Amino acid sequence: MPAIKRVALVTGSSRGIGAATAIKLAEQGCDIAINYLSNADQATFVVKKIKALGQSAVSIQADVSDFRQVESLIEQTVNRLGGLNILVNNAGYTSHGKLDVLEVAEWHKMIAVTLNAAFYCSKSALPHLKKSSWGRIVNVASLRAMTGSEHGAHYASAKAGLIGLTKSLALELAPKITVNAISPGYTATDMNKKSLIEKGDQIRAKIPLRHVAEAGEIADVIAFLCSERARYITGETINVNGGIYMR
Ligand SMILES: NC(=O)c1ccc[n+]([C@@H]2O[C@H](COP(=O)([O-])OP(=O)(O)OC[C@H]3O[C@@H](n4cnc5c(N)ncnc54)[C@H](OP(=O)(O)O)[C@@H]3O)[C@@H](O)[C@H]2O)c1
Repeated sequence: MPAIKRVALVTGSSRGIGAATAIKLAEQGCDIAINYLSNADQATFVVKKIKALGQSAVSIQADVSDFRQVESLIEQTVNRLGGLNILVNNAGYTSHGKLDVLEVAEWHKMIAVTLNAAFYCSKSALPHLKKSSWGRIVNVASLRAMTGSEHGAHYASAKAGLIGLTKSLALELAPKITVNAISPGYTATDMNKKSLIEKGDQIRAKIPLRHVAEAGEIADVIAFLCSERARYITGETINVNGGIYMR
C-alpha cells in the first residue's frame, strides 16, 4: 500500500489482465492512466470503476507499437495525472501460424506490439520514473516465453525478448527502479476465449491447479510487484500458471 500517492500507466487496460491490474493498483491507492487501442467505451468503463474507488483515472488512446504515439501517451499521463511512478507493459494480442505460413509482416507486427512497445514505453517513461527516485516497471510476458510455441514462434520469441529486456533494464535502472516480468499461463480473457470454448476441458486437465486463471489472479501478482512489499525483487520473472509449466 503506497503511503505516497503513485501514478501508474497500464498499457492495454481497457480489458482483460490490464483492466484487472488497473483496478488492483487503484485499490492500492494509485491514480491510473488507462491505455487502449480501439475500445474507447471499455476504457471509459474501467475509468469509472477506478473513480468509484476514489482514485483519479484517465483513458488515453495510443497504439503502443508506434514510438510517437507512446511519447504522447506518456506526456498526456504526466500532464493529466501529475507524474508517473509505475509502468505496466501489458498491451498485447495473439495470432497463430507455423513457420511455413507465418507472414513476415505478422512477425514484425508481433515484435512491435510486444517487444518494441515495452522498450518505447520504458524509454519514454524513464525521465519521469527517475524524478521521484522510486519506480516500478512490470512487463507481461507469457508461459510461451519459457516453453516455446509450435504455432506461434513470433509470439513466443517476442515474449522471450521481454524477459531479456526485463533483466537488462533491472541492471541498468537499479537501485531506485525495479524491473520485473510476469509470465501468465492460460487466463480467461478475450484473447483466448475461442480456444477455451473449443478445448477448455483439455486445457484444465493439464493444469495442476485445475482451473484457467481469472484475470484478477494474474493482476494480484503484478500489483504485488508494483508495491513497496516487492522492493527487494528485480530482474525476476514470476510464473503464474497453476503449475502447468511442470507438465
Ligand atoms: N490471456 C492469456 O491467456 C495470456 C497468457 C499469457 C500472457 N498474456 C498476456 O497478457 C497481456 C494481456 O492479455 P489479455 O489476455 O488481457 O488480452 P485482451 O483481453 O485481448 O486485452 C488486450 C489489451 O491490449 C490492448 N492492445 C492490443 N494491442 C494494442 C496496441 N497496439 N496498443 C495499445 N493497446 C493495445 C487492447 O486494447 P483494445 O481493447 O482497445 O483492443 C486490450 O486492452 C498480453 O500481453 C498477453 O500476451 C495473456
